[in-house]
Amino acid sequence: MCGIIGYVGKKRAAPIILECLKRLEYRGYDSAGIATINGGKLFLKKDKGFINDVILHTDLPSLPGQIGIGHTRWATHGVPSMRNAHPHTSCDEKIAVIHNGIIENYLDLKNDLLEKGHKFKSETDTEVFAHLIEENFKKKKNFESAVSDSLKKIHGAFAFVVLNADEPDKIIVARNNAPLIIGLGDGENFVASDIPAFLSETRRAVILENGEYAVIAKESAVVKEIKSSRVVKKQIQNIKWSAEAAEKGGYEYFALKEINEIPRATEDTLAALPEIEKIAHKVKKFMRNPRFRYPQTKFAVKKIIFVAAGTSYHAALIGKYLFENLCKIQCEAVLASEFSWSLANIVDKNTLIIAISQSGETADTLLALEDAKLRGAKVLAISNVIGSSITREADFNVHTNAGPEIAVIATKTFVTQLIVLYALAFYLAGKNPAPLKKIPALQAKTLSLITNIIKETAEKIKSAKDIYFLGRGISYPLILEGALKLKEISYIHAEGMPAGELKHGTLSLIEENVPVIFSLTPESHEKTISNMQEVKARSGFIIAITNEKDTSVKEHANIAIKVPEVENPLMYPLLQILPLQLLAYYTTVARGLSPDKPRHLAKSVTVE
Ligand code: F6R
Repeated sequence: MCGIIGYVGKKRAAPIILECLKRLEYRGYDSAGIATINGGKLFLKKDKGFINDVILHTDLPSLPGQIGIGHTRWATHGVPSMRNAHPHTSCDEKIAVIHNGIIENYLDLKNDLLEKGHKFKSETDTEVFAHLIEENFKKKKNFESAVSDSLKKIHGAFAFVVLNADEPDKIIVARNNAPLIIGLGDGENFVASDIPAFLSETRRAVILENGEYAVIAKESAVVKEIKSSRVVKKQIQNIKWSAEAAEKGGYEYFALKEINEIPRATEDTLAALPEIEKIAHKVKKFMRNPRFRYPQTKFAVKKIIFVAAGTSYHAALIGKYLFENLCKIQCEAVLASEFSWSLANIVDKNTLIIAISQSGETADTLLALEDAKLRGAKVLAISNVIGSSITREADFNVHTNAGPEIAVIATKTFVTQLIVLYALAFYLAGKNPAPLKKIPALQAKTLSLITNIIKETAEKIKSAKDIYFLGRGISYPLILEGALKLKEISYIHAEGMPAGELKHGTLSLIEENVPVIFSLTPESHEKTISNMQEVKARSGFIIAITNEKDTSVKEHANIAIKVPEVENPLMYPLLQILPLQLLAYYTTVARGLSPDKPRHLAKSVTVE
């Protein structure tokens, strides 16, 4: 949801901001802009479109000065246009603001400011903040107090970065429920909505918390509390991700690079098994507390509720399947945006919430877990971003070591979420997770076996209007993920459902050559083959994803895509996800589309 960058230092700001901004483009890409200060004057260029298009139209790199801010937008208030692109400025064109989030009370603020004679140039909520600061700056002639007074009037989620041509040596930034990280360099400092933005410049980072603002100059970064303006002592984090991890590394798209990184990401996540074991023990202790004892299970807690959105929700559904099968504990998996409408009512201190979110910033998930905490639940978070909002709210945290994921689609982070869930389920069930250690090599083998057949399959399905994805048992949530991946980037309508459900309605849509993709495991094989017969009888085009020992599948499927055998059939999703992700990728490329930046989407969804 919008990429934000600020730079103050000894080099020309605009080219640096542009490079950093390009690394943030996955957060939004309907318009972009940069503002800099030089000689006490504000310079600004912005336009609609991807950053590279905006560079062509406006010559962004030519902006002068050694201090500046940049933004790449995902529209919330106001259509994508030059007018609505950030930065937004005050009437006197001295204050420039960029923002990620939503100002909920912007209409009241705007009406007040209109009455005071302010003229608005855009339809955005963000612009009110520039005028509000201008109004407060008129009173005290102090930039910092003008910003801090203005922040107290804002309701909603925000990451703000502000420049003032009258105090040209500093950037002021503030955060509430939208990420903002300060990067500390040598005689230069950065601020960004995500670490990869400045990783090639510095690995030293300070994570701004909700309710904090910071005054950043080239030699200093002072963090303060919004409500009291008291200085907050912050810890400097040393980021271990390499800068190359956030680059394309020879691949045409980040999505393909990140799918190919899955064996490595799985291995890195498994390297933290001892930590996962410790967390599992802590969770078990909570579950075994006699006060919470529940007679039907050996666990004390009454219920585990997985809460997540999108791809992470599919990981949650797989988690539910694993916990119910391996640990014999009743679970629910709920979409975070639906949580407060229903399940929240049965949450109490006997509930364990497992919140899954690669970004750790998804507003729906964050709000659901805040709601659950108010009702007394304990929260375990699984996230790929250390220090993200969700991890800070949680009682227990497990980190997925996927490294930075730049493509909008979640690929390697999904697999590492699964790895954590498998490991937790094994530990909670008192089983050894050692079989998981064989997975990275099997994933690497899968990737080398299937690429050609996936490319051929993509050519066959690229013109389809609708594609159906079917699976049973643990294949069902997996297939939902396959359908989401495909529709997200190829724009082909795709629908996933339990294979047994097809005959209850959707079968009427199967006609000649409609592609239907099945996932089979040895356990669900026989029944799934019967469902294939139903499709075959209606002349559908059957693609089967199965294991290499499955010889009978060729009688039923038009194309069989095979992954290596695993020793525990529960683990097939860890391999079968690869053909599903690659099929989405190659179908998209075959349609001439970019898989990294699907239209209308953003990687981190920080609005409800
Ligand atoms: C799909 C995708 C989204 C996210 C969803 C939740 O490829 O990326 O569906 O999974 O927006 O995001 P996180 O996991 O950051 O909470």
